[in-house]
Parts: sequence; C-alpha cells; structure tokens
Amino acid sequence: EIIGVIGRRVWDSRGRPTVEAEIRLSGGAIGRAIAPAGASTGSGEAVDLRDGGDAFGGYDVTRAVASVNGEIATLLKGRDAADQAGIDAALIALDGTANKGRLGGNALIATSMALAHAAAAAAGVPLWRHLAQGRPVRIPVPEIQIFGGGAHAARRVDIQDFMLMAPGAASFAEALDWTAEVYRATGLRMKRAGKLQGVADEGGYWPAFATNEEALDELTAAILDAGFTPGPDIGISLDVAASEFGRGGRYRLALDDSALDTEGMIELLGRWLTAYPILSIEDPLAEDDEAGFIAFTSRFGRTCQVIGDDFLVTNAARVEAAAAAHSANAVLVKPNQAGTLTETRAALDAGKAAGFGTIVSARSGESEDVTICHLAVGWDAGQFKVGSFSRSERMAKWNEMLRIEEELGRDAVFAGHAALGRSA
Ligand code: PGA
Ligand code: ZN
Repeated sequence: EIIGVIGRRVWDSRGRPTVEAEIRLSGGAIGRAIAPAGASTGSGEAVDLRDGGDAFGGYDVTRAVASVNGEIATLLKGRDAADQAGIDAALIALDGTANKGRLGGNALIATSMALAHAAAAAAGVPLWRHLAQGRPVRIPVPEIQIFGGGAHAARRVDIQDFMLMAPGAASFAEALDWTAEVYRATGLRMKRAGKLQGVADEGGYWPAFATNEEALDELTAAILDAGFTPGPDIGISLDVAASEFGRGGRYRLALDDSALDTEGMIELLGRWLTAYPILSIEDPLAEDDEAGFIAFTSRFGRTCQVIGDDFLVTNAARVEAAAAAHSANAVLVKPNQAGTLTETRAALDAGKAAGFGTIVSARSGESEDVTICHLAVGWDAGQFKVGSFSRSERMAKWNEMLRIEEELGRDAVFAGHAALGRSA
C-alpha cells in the first residue's frame, strides 16, 4: 500500500530543473525515478509542465513538483503499488488533457516510473525481472552515439545522431568493448585533425565538420582504425531527426545551404545508404511527411531499419497506423513521450505485434536514473539507445545493462541481428 508520494526538484544533464518522484510503501519499500527531457521533441508528445518566466530560462518545474506533492499524492495514497495499469489510468484521468499538460508529462512519468520501482522493491526483485513476469528476455543491442549534431550541437551539422551499432557482437559487453575502441579511435582522429572541440548534449564528439558526409566518412574511418570491418556486424545508425529542419515537404539543410523536397531528401539518404555501412535510420523525413516515410520505407526498408521517433511519439495508435501504411519498420520508445509506463508499453507491444524493431530510448536531457535499462530488458525490446560513450548520465545506463547481463549469466541472450526492424 502506498503511504507516501514525494515530488522534488532535481537537476538534469543540461543543468536544468527536472522532477523526481518518490513513492513509499507500507512495507518499507521505496521507488524513485527522475523525468528526462527532450530537445528535439515531436509535436505529438506529452508535454512537460514548466514554470516559464525568468528563472532558469523558464525551465523551472515548481508547478510540476507541486502536482506530485499535491493532487497526485492524494490520488495514490492507500492504493496498491502493484496496480500499475490502474494507477496509470487514474493519473491520465486526473490530468484530464490530451497532452498531459495540466499536471505535466514530467510529473506523470516520474510518478509512473517510481511506482514500478516501488512495486519491484516490494517484490524483492530487480525491476527488469518484475516487468518480465517470467517471460523470456534478451539483452538489447545498443545504439551508441559517436558524433552529436542537430539540436544537440547548435545545429553544427544537420543530422542529429551519428551512432555505432554492433549487432554482430556476441554479447552486450562485447558491443560496448567494440564501441569503446571506435569512440577512442574517433577522438584520436579528431585530435589529429585539430577538430577536437569537446562533446555535444549526449556525449558524442562535437561535430566540427563542413558537411554531413564528412561525419559519415570520419565514423567509417574510425571503425576501420579500430580494427573492424564496417558492415552488417558493426555499422552506422543515423537519427536524421528531420522534423528539426523539414516541414510541409521542404527540407532546409543548413550545411548544404539547400532546400530539398521529399524526393530530394530520400535520394540524398539513398546515396548515403549506398556509400556508407548504414544499418538503421531514424526519422529520415519530418513528422508531417507520412508519404515520404512510406516512399522511403518501400525503397529501403528491406535492408535498412526505418525508425519512427518524432513520427510515432511512443503512441500505440500511431504505431498501428504505421504498420498498416508500411511507413516505418521500427519504433523508438521513450517513456516521457507517452507520459505513463502503461502507454509506453502499449506502444512497444504494438510495435512487436507489427513485427517492428523496438528501441527503448533515453532523451537528450537525462540523469543518473536507469529505469529505461530495466524497461528495455523486462519488456524485451531488443534495442537500446542512450546517447554516447561519455558523460555519466549515459554511462550509468550502459553500466547498469552490464550488471543485468551479468545477473542473467548463462541465460543472457544478446538480441543481435534479429532485433533490427526489416520490411518484408
Ligand atoms: P531528444 O533527442 O531527446 O532531444 O528528443 C533524442 C532523439 O531524437 O532520439
Ligand atoms: Zn530521434
């Protein structure tokens, strides 16, 4: 039984305020979770409640914290913490808005995740095991950022994430080993070229490049420098985050100083797919360009994973529509896009039912919270995206996944190549 719900203001990896929720149970168990925050958000996401005004650039969350300490605490007290679905439904009803803007998506997701932690603690098992409920699980393939760009690097390059993916590794631990070598090799290349200028929001090297292609060339070269063969076993994953520079079928690429139409954008990405070892592309077109997604997926979806992030916003109905329209073959799953764990899980399950690849993902604004590691394993997502291989809000997640893989021991199955979404 829930005896206490506490909201507090803590700070995220960009130095901005965010919401932590803590739930206390009568048996002594405690669950705690911190809301993350996106920078390149989809328009269909649950919205965070921020104070506005002058303090902390308007990002303060005193009203969202008050939601947790006030209305939410009153709603939850006395309820059974194991009733995740019932409590999530009650939270949605209490908020009463379509975008969760009244109580705040940040207040709701922190509460919903804290509740899961409290229930797992009461059951005396790790959260991933509590979520799996005895079903088989796999350790997910990590997507790890090497260069950050787009909205996470002052739009220095157009593309938001240049990531490494190693589905050919034998284990999660080995995938990290390989990534560490490529991350290091990339840093050495940047240093030699006089282009080492620190890291972007998610810990990837700052993209001091004149073109998007230069970043792709450098990443491919770094894979080779590290002693690997770029290809299906270890290759590139891109998050184009095209909603950041595309709208109404027009794409304005800052670096190329050009505007492309949907067909031009698809052709550009098609050239990259031919020239570079790209295994996966996220948001290749803008969130309002469904026709573009359909055309892109029909042309490249048999050999490349096509992920909807801003396009699908962790929404089960949108995932089902995308499956029917063949507008993607994978879905990014971000708990705070949905606003509760129950809705997050519904989006992931809709993806699985459609045969999509499913990727549990962090946000660009993060913290030491490692809830998503447990969701990725407990819900058997198969893939996991957290940002780069530096900055402790990122490393906390990679390291937690190592612990889970070790705990599973000989039962640990690495999801590998089969985890990637591919169109039939
Ligand atoms: P965001 O970026 O958290 O800023 O939205 C992550 C992503 O686009 O995948
Ligand atoms: Zn994205």
